[in-house]
Amino acid sequence: MDAICGKIALITGGANGIGAAYVRRLFQAGMQGCTITDVDEQQGEALAEEMNGCYGSGKAIFVRGDMSDKASFECVFQENMKTFNQLDLVVNNAGILRDRVWEPMINLNIASTVNGSLLGIKHMGRNNGGCGGTIVNTASILGLQGLPGCPCYTGTKHFVVGFTRSIGTQFWFDLTGIRFLTVCPGVTMTPMISDAEQWVFEGFPGLGKLVVDGLKAEPCQTVEDMAEGLNTMLNEGENGSIWVGEGAKPIYQVVIPPIRAMKVDGGESCKSP
Ligand SMILES: NC(=O)c1ccc[n+]([C@@H]2O[C@H](COP(=O)([O-])OP(=O)(O)OC[C@H]3O[C@@H](n4cnc5c(N)ncnc54)[C@H](O)[C@@H]3O)[C@@H](O)[C@H]2O)c1
Repeated sequence: MDAICGKIALITGGANGIGAAYVRRLFQAGMQGCTITDVDEQQGEALAEEMNGCYGSGKAIFVRGDMSDKASFECVFQENMKTFNQLDLVVNNAGILRDRVWEPMINLNIASTVNGSLLGIKHMGRNNGGCGGTIVNTASILGLQGLPGCPCYTGTKHFVVGFTRSIGTQFWFDLTGIRFLTVCPGVTMTPMISDAEQWVFEGFPGLGKLVVDGLKAEPCQTVEDMAEGLNTMLNEGENGSIWVGEGAKPIYQVVIPPIRAMKVDGGESCKSP
């Protein structure tokens, strides 16, 4: 399946870091056009200009948008439709690691995932006259395991996993024709990682070091490694699948075991006699 060639994508948090690497990689893979959205106007405009220089004028647009604000997010979708009159792929990538300001962080990491998914259904869903498509929601390896240094960020990423595996199911696919995928990046060298220490909960001595040590213990990679992983999962991922890209290795799919197999006795006590 070629999930990228000729397709129009909307990528949130696309001005920097992993999101900008996604934009570059998907254009290399034959993406037809892209709406880059971010709060960072300067970098977003510069990236759109760079892409238009490489792939032809009008291929990329930058639309300033605050993904924690539903009305602003809606405007970004509208701008995309006005420009391209098509949408095939939404990558909900914008996110922050800032337990110190946990309420706005929850609003971005959680609410933007829900809003981006519902707006994706509104604009691509067969139930709304669209052609279906793909929505990628961004969790983390911290959506699948705990990290004591940033409990709140970790909780937001567990939400993304739970939300996307629930909406990436047959009922929703039959209704919308949209495939939902979860991407779980491992530690990827961006300012989010280098700044993590300063954003831990206030008032807990030693917490900053704990987050740094926890992140250092994970294998790390570049944004280009992560973008290669996105390309693979877009081509191979089935609805509801969860993918981990870490340590500059090929991205791999994970399966969360059924609840009873997670019992401390390995599910033995749930087996019928
Ligand atoms: N870097 C990692 O190690 C790592 C690991 C796991 C998951 N992730 C996730 O990957 C995603 C991208 O992370 P990154 O490392 O590239 O971060 P980054 O800080 O390098 O880039 C994030 C981008 O989001 C934008 N942004 C911030 N707030 C926004 C808002 N309200 N509305 C729109 N855009 C906003 C920023 O301007 C920036 O361009 C995030 O969801 C993050 O949680 C990152």
